[in-house]
Amino acid sequence: MDATVNAREISLQEIYDQFAETYEKNRGLFDMSEILNSFYSGLGIKKGNLLDMGCGAGEPFARFFADHGWSVTGVDFSQRMLALAAKYVPEMQTVRSDMRSVDFAPDEFAAITAIYSLFHIPGKDQVALIAKFYRWLSPGGKALFTYATKEYTGSAEFDGYKEFLGQKLYYSHKTPEALYADLKNIGFNIDSATYREIGGETFLWVTITKPL
Ligand SMILES: C[S@@+](CC[C@H](N)C(=O)[O-])C[C@H]1O[C@@H](n2cnc3c(N)ncnc32)[C@H](O)[C@@H]1O
Repeated sequence: MDATVNAREISLQEIYDQFAETYEKNRGLFDMSEILNSFYSGLGIKKGNLLDMGCGAGEPFARFFADHGWSVTGVDFSQRMLALAAKYVPEMQTVRSDMRSVDFAPDEFAAITAIYSLFHIPGKDQVALIAKFYRWLSPGGKALFTYATKEYTGSAEFDGYKEFLGQKLYYSHKTPEALYADLKNIGFNIDSATYREIGGETFLWVTITKPL
């Protein structure tokens, strides 16, 4: 599926298209097994449907869930990242789109992940997207996402560009407290919010549950 993307996203999309080669070279550099195992075991079910937003090449999250017998759907606007995903996670159903433009049925997914992706969209769109996560998750379902904070951008709140691998990428975040207030307003329970340093970069890893 193709969707219309506006001028700002076209440049980020092009940057990620260019990153695909670097990504391929650095694939598997960081061990995420602890994060994967703790999110997976916290779900309390063996199999279900996973939605991976900004799935990139599908490694390691979509791959892990497919290996555990889950049905996996990945959304990304980068054609070249999705070409890698077709190689690494051929079982994954992919949607080429801006993640803000997709829609799914209520209660369709037992788990949703947005790993290193949500922070690339503006703050108000992040809240709207997380509210969609709530609708798409089945009761008791969980979402895991990476959130940028001052540990990464240097500012308590941020809306602008930061250099990554020689390119200027757009990032947006509020304070963690403002994020937690949004999550609670939407209806989510916050299971955990943990700062993790991976590959020299610190982000906040947030797990939330749609109550039963
Ligand atoms: C840093 S990569 C992370 C990929 C993967 N989740 C991982 O953990 O390796 C960010 C991904 O989000 C995608 N992305 C960023 N903004 C997006 C948007 N608005 N809609 C769809 N995909 C987006 C990029 O194309 C890229 O593949």
